[in-house]
Amino acid sequence: MRIDLLTIFPGYFSGPLETSLVATAQADGTVDIRVHDLRDWTTDRHRSVDDSPYGGGAGMVMRADVLVAAAESVWNDVPPGTQVAPPQHVAGGPRPRTVLLTPRGRTLTQALVRELAEEERLVLLCGRYEGIDERVHDLVATDEVSVGDYVLMGGEVAAAAIVEAVVRLLPGVLGNAESAVLESFEQGLLEHPHYTRPVELRGHTVPEVLRSGDHGAIAAWRAERALERTRQVRPDLLGPGGT
Ligand code: ADE
Repeated sequence: MRIDLLTIFPGYFSGPLETSLVATAQADGTVDIRVHDLRDWTTDRHRSVDDSPYGGGAGMVMRADVLVAAAESVWNDVPPGTQVAPPQHVAGGPRPRTVLLTPRGRTLTQALVRELAEEERLVLLCGRYEGIDERVHDLVATDEVSVGDYVLMGGEVAAAAIVEAVVRLLPGVLGNAESAVLESFEQGLLEHPHYTRPVELRGHTVPEVLRSGDHGAIAAWRAERALERTRQVRPDLLGPGGT
């Protein structure tokens, strides 16, 4: 898979991309991640990516001309400044899945992550400032995604979250193939509790059943704890009946 990240803070991604399994997945060729500085597509001497809003109001708006040009270059794998004709054309096929990170998008879920992980290419567009010119939504984005009902300073954290969630689903990234399937959300429930040594810590003991060796009883205990935890913390995952 290839992932292109478009941002005005390319340096932000050095940590997330150089750490742990995301770094390994790049090193072994499972994923090819490229970070692009949106300012490379500006044409004025201040390299501005934002401007004041038509109609007035507080805050700055991200410019559509810069973002559209950047997306066209990245889609077609051509350097900044190369004209793409006709506009928004993508050589050799449909436009890659292009996700605009914005609090007004649909909320990221594990189901959407699974869908994105099936794509050959992903382009993640990080917004900043008070807003993004509506024509970016019209001309560039195939999807608009939010990572939750709160407002970040920009889309970078959200894009990093998508990278992590998607990369861990790519074949060969997780050591234990089972673990991706048994985790929170994959079964529509939160995960059951986990324990490792020591058996006792400050009066808190590992439940007897987990040390029993009875695999049936362990599975039943885990299913019950997962359901109980989901009921307590995320009853919305269980639907109206709560079961
Ligand atoms: N940019 C600012 N807030 C965001 C959010 N909650 N999700 C995605 N992108 C954002």
